[in-house]
Amino acid sequence: MYYPEETVEEVRLRNDIVDVIGSYISLKRKGANYMGLCPFHNERTPSFSVNQNKQLYHCFGCGAGGNVFTFVMEYENFTFIEALKHLAERAGVTLPEEDLSQEQKRSRSEKARILEINKEAAKFYFYLLHTDQGKHGLKYLLDRGLSEETIKSFGLGYSDRGGKGLYNYLKKQGYDDQILKEAGLFSFKENDVYDRFWNRVMFPIMDVNNRVIGFGGRVMGDGEPKYLNSPETKIFDKSRNLYGLNYARTSRKSNIIICEGYMDVIALHQAGFNNAIASLGTAFTQQQANLLKRYTSEVLLCYDSDNAGTKAALRAIEELRETGLNTKVIDLSPYKDPDDFIKELGVDEFEKRIKNAQNAFLFEIETLEKEFDLQDPASKTKFFNEVAKKLLIFTESIERNSYTETVARKYHISFDDLRKLVNTYGSKYVAGQDKIRPTAESRDKKNKKLAEDGLVKAQKVLITWLIDRPKLFLSIQGILEPEDFSEELYVNVIKLLIDQYKNEKKLNPAKIINYFETREEQTEVASLFTSDIQGDMTTLEMQKAFKDMVLRIKNHSLEKQINQAAIENDPEKLQKLIKEVSALQNLHISFYDG
Ligand code: GTP
Ligand code: MN
Repeated sequence: MYYPEETVEEVRLRNDIVDVIGSYISLKRKGANYMGLCPFHNERTPSFSVNQNKQLYHCFGCGAGGNVFTFVMEYENFTFIEALKHLAERAGVTLPEEDLSQEQKRSRSEKARILEINKEAAKFYFYLLHTDQGKHGLKYLLDRGLSEETIKSFGLGYSDRGGKGLYNYLKKQGYDDQILKEAGLFSFKENDVYDRFWNRVMFPIMDVNNRVIGFGGRVMGDGEPKYLNSPETKIFDKSRNLYGLNYARTSRKSNIIICEGYMDVIALHQAGFNNAIASLGTAFTQQQANLLKRYTSEVLLCYDSDNAGTKAALRAIEELRETGLNTKVIDLSPYKDPDDFIKELGVDEFEKRIKNAQNAFLFEIETLEKEFDLQDPASKTKFFNEVAKKLLIFTESIERNSYTETVARKYHISFDDLRKLVNTYGSKYVAGQDKIRPTAESRDKKNKKLAEDGLVKAQKVLITWLIDRPKLFLSIQGILEPEDFSEELYVNVIKLLIDQYKNEKKLNPAKIINYFETREEQTEVASLFTSDIQGDMTTLEMQKAFKDMVLRIKNHSLEKQINQAAIENDPEKLQKLIKEVSALQNLHISFYDG
């Protein structure tokens, strides 16, 4: 961090979180919290809560959460330093002069610096686009129908022909070669360095928190490759991000449109379909489906209408189904992609195509049909057999029957015949010829996963209770140590909480967020502090639940240590641990309430 901890804390204390967030969105008091519509995902009923005591916010819908700094960072697309300056000014706090020693610079985390470099690069490319050197890049974008406003809101830019412009710019800002290498924006040759991108229009890729994590660049003219992307870096994982999701997640539309390319997303947004995203030129992944699920329950696939696009759509459908997202497919024919379509037929026609989007399963069946000749009885029979097998993906019989019925009607065969065929395959699978039912192994895995989830949940609840009733720290004294918690993040949180309780005699959860560097950690910590889990338990019920949680966590920790001692072949330690386990059964835990 650039600024002393006290300064950061002073700025935070002088900006009440309800005031700050309330100036962006409308909040209504509800019990101990303030509630509003979440600005970070699409929703119609409020699940975004702000807690004034804790000075934290948390969305029960999309999981966003943090303190006043992270809110402003997320909402305004600010880095931490920018948020700090903004809030300092808002509260009239004068910040000390920024004085960065070499050492301080080095010690700031690597990821944070790579993010800064990417943001600087985006600014540089954006600037170049509006200079003489970038003129033909700007002309290219305008010729493709983008407005100045669109170019600005997507931060589009240009990388120069010169080949070293960005490198020289960043060197001047004081970044060393080692970190520049990690940023993925340069190619380091034997004794020279070149910009990775040149003579391309540049598309900054942002994560859901509006941080630039990489770039795509489209070549000017016919060079190869047409699109070049940043390589994977410490901050850029293609399989876990979606282009445009930072905008689409706040579109307040009931679904999200997935297309193939950068230009498709941008053209759609410009046409008012601000719920469009793209999967970064790679096959759609399970992680991307999971990410999407936080923001929507329905997806419209809008892939290119060529063979490659259809194949990509089929694959995406599987991933989306696995995740439980309702999926439909938009038909673009006779045009290749949404960008072309809108240019040729306009917004209203596209709106119609959305309305007529086809159910993903029926799209799969229609695509399958093309492989068969339905005029030929043998081929036709094969087709229905394939259809029957496919229908088995629906494990709920009501759902399976209703799809069976639709397909039967569409292809003019009797529902009973098709259902019989489906059942034949169904019983074959159950008999074990093909695996479709969960196997014993996968059931074990599932149970294990449930147990782990339970353990994590117990730790979460315990931490929430400790924060609400700090005296409970006395209850766990000598019983639970920070190291007994199974997740590293929790270990760190508990350590920080214990420190605060010892030194300040009270807790300050919002301050703790400042100690965590990545947005993922900050969000996770905030959610720890804001889950409202105790509901309306009686004191007696709470006492029991508290003891159960403590024992569960301790037991798991001891088990782990026992395994370790066994591996290390340390009989003395083993004995000591086993004694501890049996002592747990008679353990008395006082419940210091109040
Ligand atoms: P334009 O010609 O600019 O309209 O391209 P397009 O939007 O029609 O893109 P196309 O259908 O050719 O490709 C769709 C997406 O696939 C692009 O936005 C890229 O993300 C990706 N892509 C296309 N060509 C390449 C390539 O050569 N390399 C890589 N890595 N990705 C590509
Ligand atoms: Mn195109």
